[in-house]
Amino acid sequence: MADLDDLRKGNNFAIGVTSGEQRFHVKGAANLPWGMKDQLSRIFNPATGKAVMLAFDHGFIMGPTSGLERIDLNILPLVEYADCLMCTRGILQSVVPPTVNKPVCLRSDAGTSILTELNDNVIIDIEDAIRLNVSAMAVMLAIGDTSYEAKTIANLYKMVDLGSRYGIPVMGVTAVGKQMARDARYFGLASRICAENGAHIVKTYYCEGFDKVAAACPVPVVIAGGKKLPEKEALELCYKAIQDGAAGVDMGRNVFQSPSTQAMIQAVHAVVHTGITAEQGYELYQDLAK
Ligand code: 5RP
Repeated sequence: MADLDDLRKGNNFAIGVTSGEQRFHVKGAANLPWGMKDQLSRIFNPATGKAVMLAFDHGFIMGPTSGLERIDLNILPLVEYADCLMCTRGILQSVVPPTVNKPVCLRSDAGTSILTELNDNVIIDIEDAIRLNVSAMAVMLAIGDTSYEAKTIANLYKMVDLGSRYGIPVMGVTAVGKQMARDARYFGLASRICAENGAHIVKTYYCEGFDKVAAACPVPVVIAGGKKLPEKEALELCYKAIQDGAAGVDMGRNVFQSPSTQAMIQAVHAVVHTGITAEQGYELYQDLAK
């Protein structure tokens, strides 16, 4: 029986003060359940609405590619500067200490390597994602690929069903086949298809006319960095993407293949979250890299 001796009567009900309307900082997520919003808020900073996701899932296709030979040495020193870690379950379990306490976007499909053209990916077991306490699950879509488009859309659809059941958002990853034009029409189409099928976040690439891609996508779009560029160009890419409506970056090679990885991720973080220009970001990179 609870102690009733000192049960104090409430007297501070602020009668007449309307309850504050709660707005949500993640695009398209206002109607989602609390658990989903909590996960999205762990990824997208509520103060800026933006996210720097550090992608190091490349090994699931590429093996020990440059900059990811030793994730313990190459990536762990960067983790503190990332808002979210994007990796596979194998690397999460074997290398990333749970004490880093960062939200994880788990690469949640598998089945392809650089040695084949195949994209016949299957999705992982949702129980794995739950056990690993991830904040989002990433699934690739091969839009325009006659062999695998339907299969990968079905993968996303299924993952969204499962994620919705357990409160885990899904990120649709737009893979670009060699035969596809890397333009706003293609990325706009692929991003919108991800969102229409329920993706809560879309990862795509920056391109000329990206403002239309971002505007027509009802959920946040983050950009992959793609192949390694000189640091100044990579920061320009981040800046232009943010100016054109991206909600952040999910960047890998342009960070972990930089000569100064810690300086680069901090410069990217500043461009994404503080609105500094690419030039200012590059100056910061140079200062930190000294
Ligand atoms: C690899 C991926 C990467 O996560 C994605 O391409 C982002 O990395 P990068 O900035 O190096 O392009 O999906 O399969």
